[in-house]
Amino acid sequence: MDASVQSTKWERLIEPGRVHGSLYADSDIFQEELEKIWYRTWVYVGHTSEIPNPKDYVTKSIGPMPILMVRDRKGEVRLLMNRCPHRGNAVCVIEKGNRATFTCPYHSWTFANDGRLMGYAYPDGYETADKSKLGLGTVPRVSIYKGFVFASMAEDGPTLEEHLGGAARAIDQLCENSPEGEVEITAGFLHHRSQANWKFIVENECDGYHPAFVHASIFAVADSGIGNLYGPDSTAVTRDFGNGHTEVDLRPEFRLRDEPLSWFGTTAERLPDYVAKMNAAHRPDKARTVMIDGTPHIMIFPNLFIAEIQLFVIQPIAADETIQHVTALQFKGAPDFNRRMRQQTMGSVGPAGFLLADDTEMYERNQRGLATREPEWLYLERGVHRERRDENGYLVGHSTDEVPSRGIWRHYKKMMEEE
Ligand code: FES
Ligand SMILES: [Fe+2]
Repeated sequence: MDASVQSTKWERLIEPGRVHGSLYADSDIFQEELEKIWYRTWVYVGHTSEIPNPKDYVTKSIGPMPILMVRDRKGEVRLLMNRCPHRGNAVCVIEKGNRATFTCPYHSWTFANDGRLMGYAYPDGYETADKSKLGLGTVPRVSIYKGFVFASMAEDGPTLEEHLGGAARAIDQLCENSPEGEVEITAGFLHHRSQANWKFIVENECDGYHPAFVHASIFAVADSGIGNLYGPDSTAVTRDFGNGHTEVDLRPEFRLRDEPLSWFGTTAERLPDYVAKMNAAHRPDKARTVMIDGTPHIMIFPNLFIAEIQLFVIQPIAADETIQHVTALQFKGAPDFNRRMRQQTMGSVGPAGFLLADDTEMYERNQRGLATREPEWLYLERGVHRERRDENGYLVGHSTDEVPSRGIWRHYKKMMEEE
């Protein structure tokens, strides 16, 4: 066969309007994804507000790999591998705290919070060892955008700003909703494990086709107008920012309503302190626009989902296993607003919450469905005939169209084809 017409493995599995089911189930593909996506591109790790003081730390991850996010004595944010150079044990298993050193529980080697090995138990056994070569591993590149800490395991590559591209606008939009311009991740995390491939979850985050059906019960109980945002008459749009980043932009619907805080299911009268602080922080017309537009609904590839009032961190564990770490967003200087965000978060994604439970049931059923052999492909063409470019050149479609899924797969294929 002529080499020029030979298709790559990825061309055979990913077509513009459909993807092969094995992409969600094959463990060799999962291992390859770790190398080509999770240990290469920028991955969201945590937020600077989780470690406000010197010596604070939190346990985090890059893909399945456990790491520590630490603020060292000088106030610098560092990412260390949570793996003891002696026998591989985790040097820290407690989720967060404040410590100058980490002592491995197995044989008690002790490390400074910049990763240096400080000492061994019974050091007379190590007269010939070189301590300087036995520190904790470090993450090659760390970059912070408005407090959001990202890591890349590749020594070189695009900068974080290049990777985020137009998706940075959503982080800006989020921060503007705080009267002090800053988000705080201080509400604590829930950890939801599901038996589903990480890509089903990434795709679901900006799938505007399912909410009216899957979430009908919570919309009815909460007497919420959210369902209409995803109905056939919605003016909201789905958008593909490139680099795998996608959003459902609900601002057109909120602008039609023209009511500050309607996006949050409330009114300005119910949150007078917050509104007063927003008016003081911005020009009044700007404050009004920010409070009408609300916060974004964006999936920053591959693992950060900002869902209006919550933040989800997606952690792949195996081809058919993923953990979602979920927390309520909090705005600096907005205690009245924050209390409501925590309450709503408990109702939607807490232990007895409806929203995540309903979604999880769907992606777990998708995963189980892959065991049924026919048809082998998954169909992604919804709205392909009405895709268009917005004023910034990004592809957009109706809120129920599969513009995001197609964008995710285009980027995925590009990353997987790179050597
Ligand atoms: S495994 Fe950590 S000190 Fe032995
Ligand atoms: Fe959902």
